[in-house]
Amino acid sequence: MTTTAPTARPAIPVVDVDPFSHEVLEDPLPMQAALRDAGPVVFLPRYDLYAVARYAEVRAALVDWQRFPSSAGVGMSNFRHETPWRPPSLLLEADPPHHDAPRAVLSAILGPRALRRLTDRWFADAEDLVAGLLDGAGPVVELDGMAALAAAFPLRVFPDAVGLPREGRENLLPYGDHAFNAFGPSNDLVAKGAPRVAELSAWVGAQCAREVLADDGFGAAIWAASDRGEITPAQAPLIVRSLLTAGVDTTVHGLGAVLHGLATHPDAWATLRARPERARVAFDEAVRWQSPVQTFFRTAEVDTPIGGTVVPADRKILMFLGAANRDPRHWADPDRFDLDRDPSGHVGYGMGIHQCVGQHVARLEGAALLTALTRRVERIEPAAAPARHHNNTMRAFASLPLRLHLA
Ligand code: HEM
Repeated sequence: MTTTAPTARPAIPVVDVDPFSHEVLEDPLPMQAALRDAGPVVFLPRYDLYAVARYAEVRAALVDWQRFPSSAGVGMSNFRHETPWRPPSLLLEADPPHHDAPRAVLSAILGPRALRRLTDRWFADAEDLVAGLLDGAGPVVELDGMAALAAAFPLRVFPDAVGLPREGRENLLPYGDHAFNAFGPSNDLVAKGAPRVAELSAWVGAQCAREVLADDGFGAAIWAASDRGEITPAQAPLIVRSLLTAGVDTTVHGLGAVLHGLATHPDAWATLRARPERARVAFDEAVRWQSPVQTFFRTAEVDTPIGGTVVPADRKILMFLGAANRDPRHWADPDRFDLDRDPSGHVGYGMGIHQCVGQHVARLEGAALLTALTRRVERIEPAAAPARHHNNTMRAFASLPLRLHLA
């Protein structure tokens, strides 16, 4: 798969692979290993792209926002030359100084202190969800972990926390799925979402208006920040949109990842049952291990040397977060889902100024759901092979058949 570029370019390993093909999306691990082994930076001729897959180089690119800015887009499309499919995000697709105020507002609203008021409610909601599935059921319950747990829980708590009306919530997952596909090339996955883009975007846009949002949610808190002059009233709806785009599919597939990890590693489930306070670490280890967000791009601001070659100014570079999170140069036994490991430093939430501002929300969802399950379930195992859902950016499940042995 690997050759060396013939002429003008400096010696850079060339890897002829399509990271967005269905074959790779089904199982990206062999490609990730090949990219890491090929070199610190590689060239992907299919898309005329530079790419990094080792931990050290991915982390270095993530933290270097001056040389690898985000405002030209964090997908394959270069906003300096192409029109984005929607107005760019004020967080994800912005650089300082424009990034600063929206980031400060969301950091306060989604930070650990602010979330304390939600903790008891979300733990109770998780108990309720689990009770609804298990009460009166036999000693063994079979269910689809995706539909019944990983999707059901965020959809139950997150839209309420934002302050969305009930109607139309079924649009959240398809909108997020399309947005994450749109970071990749315009392949069949993007074409599949295209017919509904206008309708879904209109719905999402309408939910960001002040009068639609409940007055005690994250959405209202964003609007209140505009009243205080921390952001402008024109910025508020786009910041609400960030929550609706980035806050649902990610946690659904993060929860899918942790359920899959626990079902396939009985020792980890036993550890978690004995020490439920490890639930947050278990969730983070799953984010490292499966990396629900697999990739993001940056654009070189200037000619930038990496690992003996130069990424030319204005060129896109693809960062394989999922590959970095399993790089044996950084992690011991990286393919193992291991609750005794300290997963901190993983790049599943990114790193640096754009590091996921919603990670405390995601962890709280994980802790609530896992804690509720540990109380009722003695053993959890796969009931059949899981089915993958293909997305250009996310590592996702379509279904996760589980067998729960009740305590
Ligand atoms: C940023 C992953 C949950 C909102 C990011 C980034 C990653 C990521 C990798 C960095 C993007 C970059 O560097 O270009 C995840 C994962 C999640 C998750 C794996 C769940 C397991 C959430 C949730 C929310 C959220 C629940 C909202 C409540 C955001 C926003 C940004 C972001 C707004 C942009 C931050 C900025 O650019 O300053 N996320 N995320 N995410 N995430 Fe998350």
